[in-house]
Amino acid sequence: MSATLLADPPPPAPLRSSGEPGIRIRAFEGPAGAEVLGLDLAEPLSGADFQRLHRAHLDHHVLVFRDQRITPQQQIDFSRRFGPLQIHVLHQFQLAGHPEILIVSNIIENGRPIGLGDAGVYWHSDLSYKERPSLGSMLHAQELPAEGGDTLFANMHLAWDTLPAALRSATEGLRAEHSYLAKYEELRQRSPWRPKLTDEQIAEVRPVTQPVVRTHPETGRKALFVSEHFTTRVIGMPEDESRELLAQLFAHSVRPEHIYRHRWQAHDMVFWDNRSLMHLATSFPSAMRRRLNRTTIEGDVPF
Ligand code: OGA
Ligand code: MN
Repeated sequence: MSATLLADPPPPAPLRSSGEPGIRIRAFEGPAGAEVLGLDLAEPLSGADFQRLHRAHLDHHVLVFRDQRITPQQQIDFSRRFGPLQIHVLHQFQLAGHPEILIVSNIIENGRPIGLGDAGVYWHSDLSYKERPSLGSMLHAQELPAEGGDTLFANMHLAWDTLPAALRSATEGLRAEHSYLAKYEELRQRSPWRPKLTDEQIAEVRPVTQPVVRTHPETGRKALFVSEHFTTRVIGMPEDESRELLAQLFAHSVRPEHIYRHRWQAHDMVFWDNRSLMHLATSFPSAMRRRLNRTTIEGDVPF
């Protein structure tokens, strides 16, 4: 064997060098998700990198940025590149000085919850109960439990594409009601994270109707747009029929082959498309601490 084969390998090329495309998108195997490599979100984002992220977000629906040491303000600035931000109705869980950030956490400090601890106990798409639901949300990991606390994402384009024909024809053209209050009292009974809402807060979350099948405004792809957390009934359908139809749609949406499971790592930033996905938080031991910062980008009126 020649000596040259045993020589040290050359040093790896730097991830970024002038004139080369900076970022790489590595798609996950499975129904959704990609990792973005070679990007530090603490640095200003170039127009070209923004274009690549925008395209990748539409293609993969969930983008994962590992090890991002960014401040809340940097998360806000990055989020704003994609649209105006929405302020959550539970004002008590805003990050001090940064109302654009909703703290998602089970941590209790001085007898008071610092954030919303049960944000993801039922499948949902963020703010589907608003006339203008969210385009996408970003979660930045601050503190993670040693086990559990994953976030699951269901690809609702796949759910629509694979829906049995009879269900498809029973569903197309329908509208359904979405309400923030649908599960509120039930959650309130079993958690410290659901303060009694003021009249102003209740006025902010009046029920709305949404199409059961929506068209993604940027890609034109259809997606199921109903969820167990917020969808209460199909408009113009007898109660029992509506309940039965929604149950079938929910069950089909979250079949295992539609799901990407995100296992959080320290300083992960995850950016998903609420027009294409539903999501759910998995449980973790209640003695462990979990805290993430969420920004929520406003989307279009669904059609
Ligand atoms: C959210 C949410 C899920 C999670 O913040 O919108 O649903 O895993 N979170 O915390
Ligand atoms: Mn959510």
